[in-house]
Amino acid sequence: MALRLLLADPDAGWISNARKHFESMMYEVDEAQNGKEAQLALYNNDYFAVILSQNIQNHSASQVIRFIKSNHPSMKVIMILNMQAKESQIKEFKELGLTEYIKKPFSFEDLSQLLESQQNIQQIMDNMPKKEGQEEEVEVSMEDAKFTKIKIDELYSAQRVLFDVFIKLGDSHYVKILHKGDAFSQERIDKYKKNKGIEHLYFMTSDRKKYVQFTTHLISKTAKSKKVSGKTKISLLKNASEKFLEEVCDEGIKPQVIDQGKEICQNITEIVEEQHDLYNLLRGFDDFDPNAVSHSFAVTLFASSIVKQFNWQSEKTIGTIAMGCMFHDIGKTKLKAEIALMRPSDMNESQLVEYKKHPEYGVEMLEGKYGISTTIKQIILQHHETFNGTGFPSGLKGGRIFTLSNIICLANDFVHIIADNKFKPTDGLKLILTNQDMILRYHSQILENFIKIFVAPDKLAKAKKTELPSNSKLFKKSG
Ligand SMILES: [Fe+2]
Ligand SMILES: [Fe+2]
Repeated sequence: MALRLLLADPDAGWISNARKHFESMMYEVDEAQNGKEAQLALYNNDYFAVILSQNIQNHSASQVIRFIKSNHPSMKVIMILNMQAKESQIKEFKELGLTEYIKKPFSFEDLSQLLESQQNIQQIMDNMPKKEGQEEEVEVSMEDAKFTKIKIDELYSAQRVLFDVFIKLGDSHYVKILHKGDAFSQERIDKYKKNKGIEHLYFMTSDRKKYVQFTTHLISKTAKSKKVSGKTKISLLKNASEKFLEEVCDEGIKPQVIDQGKEICQNITEIVEEQHDLYNLLRGFDDFDPNAVSHSFAVTLFASSIVKQFNWQSEKTIGTIAMGCMFHDIGKTKLKAEIALMRPSDMNESQLVEYKKHPEYGVEMLEGKYGISTTIKQIILQHHETFNGTGFPSGLKGGRIFTLSNIICLANDFVHIIADNKFKPTDGLKLILTNQDMILRYHSQILENFIKIFVAPDKLAKAKKTELPSNSKLFKKSG
């Protein structure tokens, strides 16, 4: 079903061009040239989003936003602002409930991207142009560095793709075989594989986020399908997680850290795949929330990288922490779905009480499972305890917390910071290092070793405005 848009702008010429543009992108478009018309349209219809000019008259933009927020609270309001719009004005519009804004001058493409960023993956897919047949293959010359490679089997068929897909002919030489919106049939996959001996496909690295969204979405859609085997689902997931890691770690992290981290994630999935019990738990977790498994992979990557900086580290410790990370949030599957999918900052008092039980639930679920040691259960139990005693479930302090738990706590906080704010890793690190409350959550040695996984840590370490606490007995010489 097409998404409906309301364009509200006094400029008739602009509206007519915008209408053509958005209709060609499969939106259903209504228009209003003044605030009164906009409100009437809003009174009679429900829209996915309203694109509202700051210059609208006869009911001002502020009045229209107020009307929208009291009648359709979840409707997106994208505002077009004049070039000279001041920060104070933007703040006022935000307080009224503005979702996003774009300043003049901008292109229709900029506006489309902004609109797309407000859609969930199902809405994007539903809104993709339906195509008859398939478009021509196109040869392109572009640097290899711009492409990301996947195995041909890893592009799940029978779904329309969200991004262009290429095959490689030679150095910096590609053929676009699928255009955004095309479906990739099993016959076509077989044709490329068998007749042409193609093993890999490529997409533009700039589309990596879409690839991750797309795959995660497919996994959640296929979660209950019997047609897709558990193995395929886990391999889709592992793949999406790897690309997710590449996406979040594009800048600032030492490349060898990422490679080693990916290897650790790979090993841990292999171990889990062999253990029936654990495999089923992970599958259940994935059915519950595919993003949670990607999150676990990312936490595994950062936590194991921190452990690797300690001189007491060993393969066994890495294995222990990786297993702990993989299952640290498994207890969330025992929470009511609405709580498990919320961030704690959005929870009310009673939801928080329930949420804080997930480490204990996790330990209960892992009881008696092969490959889960007492240490792994302990570190899962303590993954939200903090060095200064503000954590849960027990509010333990300093030396009473396992080192590995405090490492997971930091890796978990960090992954949330970069994923929730769409931060680069280096910005996530800066945020932690410049926030006294955050710094106090971790043992100083852990924080210092975390800094070491970044490129040019000396520069970043200077961002520390506060001295790191070093009052713990967590690190005895023997380790
Ligand atoms: Fe957790
Ligand atoms: Fe977590």
